[in-house]
Amino acid sequence: MSNWVRAHTNIALIKYWGKENENVIIPMNNSLSLTLDAFYTETNVTFNENLTTDELYLDNQIQDFDSLLKVKTVLDLVRKKAGIKTKARVDSFNYVPTAAGLASSASGLAALAGSASLAAGLNLSQKELSTLARRGSGSACRSIYGGFAEWQKGHSHETSFAVPVDEANWDIGMLFIIVNDKQKDVSSRDGMSRTVKTSPFYQGWLDSLGQDLSAMKEAIAKQDSHKVGEIAERNALKMHATTLGATPPFTYWSPESMRAMDAVRKLRKQGYSAHFTMDAGPNVKIICKQSELEEIKAHLLNDFTESQLISAKPGPGLQKIEKPD
Ligand code: PMV
Repeated sequence: MSNWVRAHTNIALIKYWGKENENVIIPMNNSLSLTLDAFYTETNVTFNENLTTDELYLDNQIQDFDSLLKVKTVLDLVRKKAGIKTKARVDSFNYVPTAAGLASSASGLAALAGSASLAAGLNLSQKELSTLARRGSGSACRSIYGGFAEWQKGHSHETSFAVPVDEANWDIGMLFIIVNDKQKDVSSRDGMSRTVKTSPFYQGWLDSLGQDLSAMKEAIAKQDSHKVGEIAERNALKMHATTLGATPPFTYWSPESMRAMDAVRKLRKQGYSAHFTMDAGPNVKIICKQSELEEIKAHLLNDFTESQLISAKPGPGLQKIEKPD
């Protein structure tokens, strides 16, 4: 029997940046994201008595030990809960447009948590699934839900999980400008750890978060996509500012990211409600009205190629799917 599960990626509008506890991944702050339809991962876990070690196949390619580490963390937690010791084979397919260079850890680890728990015969609640996914990759805990989700930081393994905020059945969308598909130099894990430990700007970031989060929730409740974008852009710029104060300093921005940010500012001058956000990489994501996605894309085609531009709408939460073997 197969246990295929699909999870969609999410993009934070209020960023998670820094851990209070690195071992069990308790964040320093609450974060809030939008799950998207355009990118997702499908995963099937099979526990098999004949296996002597866990195996991960990504897009049919067997992965090395390093790629398996986050996966093993989730599998071990599932085994402990189910009282089994059996090793597992994990088959995973990423549906991210080729060369998009977008992190798939959120959708990947969320799909893994869903499939592994089903395969072990566990019937977990959404809260438990979110908690489990978090241990693989922090941001994955938000991909359990569709639409907007808030990761409430909590203070221990059991109390740190995401909750649904709003289904996002209104006029909001995202447009991705893919400027680079290379492996990032500084992983999000290393980047946030270095920033927390060394950046004098980090405290400023933390101090301003409460206000951003409550303003964001208010904007979502009012279905005000312009305000959502405005707060998200401000929040992202503050997060990225902390990295410049780190020792050694670093940035995820490339010259192409700056060109993309300028293009978004130009769109605003033309009267569009468009704002940007960025994560631990150089790609730029535009927050805009869903009804204006195509028009905005048409404008951006003056500066970027068709394959660099990917439109996304709010997407669903974790779901079990049927897939032919
Ligand atoms: O969950 P991770 O380790 O991939 O970290 C995600 C960090 C950011 O993407 C920069 C912010 C976020 O909240 O998703």
